[in-house]
Amino acid sequence: MSELGGKVAAVTGAASGLGRAMALAFASEGMHVALADVDEAGLAHTRDLLAPHGIKACAMRVDVSKAREVEAFAERAAAELGGAHLVCNNAGVALSGAVWETSAAEWQWIVGVNLLGVVHGVRAFAPRLIAQDEGHIVNTASVAGLISAPGMGAYCASKHAVVALSESLQHDLGERGSRVGVSVLCPAYVPTGIAESRFPGPVAKSQERLAKEAALKKAVAAGKLSADDVARAVVAAVKQTRFYVLTHPAIKGAVRARMEDVLDERAPRDPLRLK
Ligand SMILES: NC(=O)c1ccc[n+]([C@@H]2O[C@H](COP(=O)([O-])OP(=O)(O)OC[C@H]3O[C@@H](n4cnc5c(N)ncnc54)[C@H](O)[C@@H]3O)[C@@H](O)[C@H]2O)c1
Repeated sequence: MSELGGKVAAVTGAASGLGRAMALAFASEGMHVALADVDEAGLAHTRDLLAPHGIKACAMRVDVSKAREVEAFAERAAAELGGAHLVCNNAGVALSGAVWETSAAEWQWIVGVNLLGVVHGVRAFAPRLIAQDEGHIVNTASVAGLISAPGMGAYCASKHAVVALSESLQHDLGERGSRVGVSVLCPAYVPTGIAESRFPGPVAKSQERLAKEAALKKAVAAGKLSADDVARAVVAAVKQTRFYVLTHPAIKGAVRARMEDVLDERAPRDPLRLK
C-alpha cells in the first residue's frame, strides 16, 4: 500500500508504546485511526495526541484475547471510519520465568493476548480487506519470535507462533492472488511499558524469576531505538510491502546461529551468550 493518506488504520495496544507510536506515525501520513486497548486512560491520551493531526479517530476498550471484542472493534472501525486498510495486531504482554515456573493460568494469559489476540485480529479484519482487495496486516511479534532466550519460554512460544501464523497468512493470501499485504514486526528491546506487564492474578515468584524480571526491565529500558523509530520502520515496510521487519540488525547473527543449530541438528546455543 504505497499511498496511506485518507485511508484507515486499526491499531491494538494503542494506549502505550509501539501501538501509540504507530497510531501517531499513521496520522502523520494523513491516515484516520481506530484505537483499541484495555487501558482506557492510555487510549484517551493517545487520542489527545492525535488531535493536532486533524484526522478522524475512534477509540474502544477491547480485550484482544476475546474474539467477540475484536470483531466488535472491526465493526466499530467500519461504522465510524468506513472500514480499515491497515490493521496492526500489536497488543501484547510479557512475563519472565522458566517454562515450568510459569503457571497454567499465566500461559493461558500470555497465549491469549499475544497469540490469540493476533488470531482474532486476522479473523475479524482479513475477510474485509480481502473483499475490498486492498490492505495490509502488520502482526507484532518480536525477535523473541525468531530466537528463544532462557527465562522467556512463554513469551518466546507466543511470539514464534505469531511469526508462523504470519508466514502462513502470507501464503494463504498469495495462493488466492490477493493484493492484501502482510508484515511481521520483530523488534529487539524498545523502551516501552512492556516490562511492566502484570499477570492479573496471584503468582509466587522464585528469586531466579525475580532476577529474570529485573534483567528484562533493565534491557527494555536500555533499548537504543525508540518506539517512534520502530513506527517509522513499520510505515516504510507497509509502503514497500515488506514482510519481515527486523528493526535491530545486530540480532541477525543470533537468528542465523539458531537456524544453523536447527539445520546441523545440534542443541541450541544461548542467543544471549553468543560471541
Ligand atoms: N518493547 C519491546 O522491547 C518489544 C520488543 C519486541 C516486541 N514487542 C511487542 O510490541 C507490542 C507492543 O508492546 P509495547 O512494547 O509497546 O509495550 P506496552 O506495554 O507499552 O504496550 C502494550 C499495550 O498492549 C495493551 N494490552 C495488554 N493486554 C491487552 C489486551 N488483552 N487487550 C488489549 N490491549 C492489551 C497494554 O494495555 C498496552 O497499552 C507487544 O506485542 C510486544 O510484545 C515489544
